[in-house]
Amino acid sequence: MTRRAIVTGVGHYLPDKVVENSHFESFLDTSDEWIRSRSGIERRHFAAEGQTTSDMAARAARAALAAAGRQPDEVDAILLATSTADLTFPSAATMVQAQLGMTRGFAFDIQAVCAGFVFALANASALIACGQATRILVIGSESFSKLMDWSDRTTCVLFGDGAGAVLLEASEGAGTSDDRGILSTDLHSDGRHRDILYVDGGVSTGTVGHLKMQGKEVFRHAIDKLAATAHASMDKAGVTSADVDWIVPHQANIRIIQGTAKKMQMPMDNVIVTVQDHGNTSAASIPLALSVGAERGQIKRGDLLVTEAIGGGLAWGSVVLRW
Ligand code: ACO
Repeated sequence: MTRRAIVTGVGHYLPDKVVENSHFESFLDTSDEWIRSRSGIERRHFAAEGQTTSDMAARAARAALAAAGRQPDEVDAILLATSTADLTFPSAATMVQAQLGMTRGFAFDIQAVCAGFVFALANASALIACGQATRILVIGSESFSKLMDWSDRTTCVLFGDGAGAVLLEASEGAGTSDDRGILSTDLHSDGRHRDILYVDGGVSTGTVGHLKMQGKEVFRHAIDKLAATAHASMDKAGVTSADVDWIVPHQANIRIIQGTAKKMQMPMDNVIVTVQDHGNTSAASIPLALSVGAERGQIKRGDLLVTEAIGGGLAWGSVVLRW
């Protein structure tokens, strides 16, 4: 028997404020047509004034708990993937813990930028496999609107805010790829590429800073690294593209999503796509796509999923799981 981490609940939260591409035409030399054709993005949600990453995370977490029929005090740990924690410390995860009224267990943030949710899933799966925890809330929540330079058309049109969460619970599997739950994980980072995607603020500058990106360079790395990690985790799980029901990719750019699917020899009909409605929500994009994909009736119990993401660091990775 193999102790697996299975998804028993999923949920998400998107802030009320929806911003269409046309909004940016009023103050930037850009167009709806440029943004759509280069990125696939049509609209995004922005957090309200005073609404924080932990507020959105707590809402997504409550939705995932409700879907699983669990109470906060049944949860052993919260892993929150974010690069936009409310404060430098304490972690946004402990703020979520307090908002949920959870007084037991432990909570911490994971920072791997857009790959954060994949890193958090892998860590949560390991904590469950080794018996440290039985139930873990894994959340991705981001307020990237707070990091935008609104005069930089090359970045500010691409990002959005939101949160998604899954509840993982321990379950005994047979140890085969037919098991439900997380079957394999594959993580990487390469700090030599820090200058192609970063925020120019932090403790060392005394400012929050703005997101800086060499988009073409990120693009150049993305498809090869995403397809390679997806193949590595599929190999570890003992499955091939033919077995996969859904790719649930990080939602940064439709052209990266399409290029990666092509390299994985998967038709776009088997890819969950939400980038048109959410923009790039960094660590929140995969749990948002999981939740929306399940809500749309696309992802069903027993389906085999591959999630993959790349972001600042560079950091990238993938997870194979049976829903
Ligand atoms: N509106 C109009 N024109 C624009 C805009 C805009 N919003 N932004 C850039 N342009 C211009 C550029 O200035 C350039 O003009 P020039 O030719 O006169 O110099 C032209 O459009 C082409 O720009 P490119 O950068 O070559 O456009 P490209 O086709 O590469 O698309 C994009 C840019 C969308 C950023 C793409 O490179 C991309 O998606 N890269 C990957 C980004 C990504 O995946 N990030 C994920 C990680 S995010 C994270 O980890 C936080």
